[in-house]
Amino acid sequence: MSELIIKNLHVEVENKKILKGINLTVKNNELVAILGPNGHGKSTLLSVIMGNPKYKVVEGEILFDGENVLKMSVDERSKKGIFLGFQNPYEIPGLNTSDFYKAALNAHEEKRIPLFKFYKALENGCKDVKLDFDMMNRNLNDGFSGGEKKRNEILQMLLLNPKLAMLDEIDSGLDVDALNIVSDAITKQKEKGSSFLVVSHYDKFLNSLKPDKVAVIINGRVACIGGEEISKNIASFGYHWVKKTYGIEIEKEETSMNQVSIGVCATKEIIKDEK
Ligand SMILES: Nc1ncnc2c1ncn2[C@@H]1O[C@H](COP(=O)(O)OP(=O)(O)OP(=O)(O)O)[C@@H](O)[C@H]1O
Ligand SMILES: [Mg+2]
Repeated sequence: MSELIIKNLHVEVENKKILKGINLTVKNNELVAILGPNGHGKSTLLSVIMGNPKYKVVEGEILFDGENVLKMSVDERSKKGIFLGFQNPYEIPGLNTSDFYKAALNAHEEKRIPLFKFYKALENGCKDVKLDFDMMNRNLNDGFSGGEKKRNEILQMLLLNPKLAMLDEIDSGLDVDALNIVSDAITKQKEKGSSFLVVSHYDKFLNSLKPDKVAVIINGRVACIGGEEISKNIASFGYHWVKKTYGIEIEKEETSMNQVSIGVCATKEIIKDEK
């Protein structure tokens, strides 16, 4: 069983309000698709659920299986079964990919995973996401192509077998075949019982996942929630459709030019040009 409940979540970063009262529930084995214009808080929401310390929760609650997620450390959240596949996966030179996966699996289990079992799981996972097994000897995402990084995130999800998988624009950078591979992997993981929060800008990808709910995040709030018709209408008519149907204005970024600091290099360039 897994249920994520987000109540009236307000979040700030660098004193800037990003999330302004998110209410959202992901029930057991549900796949909730999230879309919304750039910069309106989708990645912020997933990062806060995972526990990125950059973000400050100023109000609200996140409950997972009835437990207060906000009181847990990142590794506790991971051990509870929460997983985040990054929009921009980190490259970590010096960290061998298979060592990283072995350490991650061992951290999730009471007993260390036998080497042969790990090897087989990794080999099968690589086959599922069509990544060359040799890549597991390379450093984590180091020099991986955009599509390889995304498939590596899915491989990590398959290995960790999370209760709740949050996938942030996992489809971006994937070629048409890789899109099908990733979509199939998500569907299979859902059949195993996982719940999902999937962020994407593309209705074709979202619809291939047959979401149970589609939620749109605008201005740091859930502007509307419903079925696949929402992503279809947005694909056809843009976010203007949300404005027209729900009467929600899409707030523009306030510009604060006075606060922009010019970096040292830019300053040097200006001095050089003025000579
Ligand atoms: N450290 C920071 N300082 C100031 N603003 C930040 C910081 N981190 C994030 N933001 C801002 O928070 C807002 C929300 O960002 P977020 O990454 O959640 O958007 P998003 O909805 O995922 O967009 P996209 O579709 O482009 O991925 C953006 O305006 C972003 O610039
Ligand atoms: Mg994002």
